[in-house]
Amino acid sequence: MMAGSTYGIDLGSGNIKIYKKSEDKILNEKNMIAIENKTKLFAFGDNAFNMYEKAPANIVISYPVCNGVIADINNMQTLIKCFIQKMSNGSNKNSDFYIAVPTDVTEVEKRAFYDLVKDSNIKARKIMVVEKAIADGIGLDIDVMNSQGTLIVNIGFDTTEISILSLGGIVLSKLIKVGGQKLDDAVKNVIRREYNLIIGSKTAEKLKITLNELNDDTTEAIVYGRDIVTGLPVERAIPTPLVHDCLKENFDLIIDNIKVILEKTPPELAADIYRKGLYLTGGSASAGHLKDMIQHDTGLKVNVSSSPSESVVRGLAKIIEEEGYQSVAYSIQEMTSKG
Ligand SMILES: Nc1ncnc2c1ncn2[C@@H]1O[C@H](COP(=O)(O)OP(=O)(O)OP(=O)(O)O)[C@@H](O)[C@H]1O
Ligand SMILES: [Mg+2]
Repeated sequence: MMAGSTYGIDLGSGNIKIYKKSEDKILNEKNMIAIENKTKLFAFGDNAFNMYEKAPANIVISYPVCNGVIADINNMQTLIKCFIQKMSNGSNKNSDFYIAVPTDVTEVEKRAFYDLVKDSNIKARKIMVVEKAIADGIGLDIDVMNSQGTLIVNIGFDTTEISILSLGGIVLSKLIKVGGQKLDDAVKNVIRREYNLIIGSKTAEKLKITLNELNDDTTEAIVYGRDIVTGLPVERAIPTPLVHDCLKENFDLIIDNIKVILEKTPPELAADIYRKGLYLTGGSASAGHLKDMIQHDTGLKVNVSSSPSESVVRGLAKIIEEEGYQSVAYSIQEMTSKG
């Protein structure tokens, strides 16, 4: 029998990241599926995303993972099979899988990640589970096994996961439903309200991302959309401060939750966190003035990840490659005992 490879998977609400050991490569694509006439697979991943908000009514494009958990098992199984096949060129039998799971979800929701791979027709040999925040810490090059008191904030597409780690384990963790998608919605809403202009999700996201690159001299950004009143496509100049300001409400929610976690943190660990600062990661880590706001409101230094969207999957890669990290991965039998 041909030997399989080992894969590490971070099933994000927006992007799926898969590491393949034998080729030492990472796939990072939209975690999206396009289904034609209710049954036929039409496109997956980045290809499905390219059609998003442009497809005719008989093609339904969706994200099977919502708020960090698997919401649509059938489509997610189809997707995972497609992605693994794409990475394996057909020979994926007898492979091992390491899957990152959020901590602050129900036991059933956690188990669904394991079942997904087990039941997906991939013929896995071994399936291991790793808490996302631990993988994140390892991916951020923090010595999670030995260091005490580490605060990690991962802001993704649907969620923000705030976790305190110590000595290879999770002390506290909270998952809130705020991420890049909510920021895009805020951009859409403010432009609709102030300019009577309807823009799509992709335009809103682009505007949010270019915001960071616009320097202080640039005071406006050009967007295209549909005028509510005339119904016609138009171009408008949007002042960048307006976009910055509309993100603030979501940033405040994230910061309030960081403060709540800090209030519950045992004082010895809090002292470590104060010394090292907090670690900000996830694709939305560099959104707007978030870093400065967190720094200002918590008084903590903020370390921003250099490859934020992939810190979890890079952590999984290290766990798979380096012997010393095996103890952070556990099987489903151990899962129940870990609570
Ligand atoms: N330069 C940037 N500035 C701001 N936001 C960005 C930037 N680059 C990517 N993003 C945002 O990052 C988000 C995706 O991040 P990530 O891949 O970490 O999410 P995810 O893991 O799929 O979601 P989740 O962890 O919530 O399940 C998107 O909302 C995207 O708009
Ligand atoms: Mg994520």
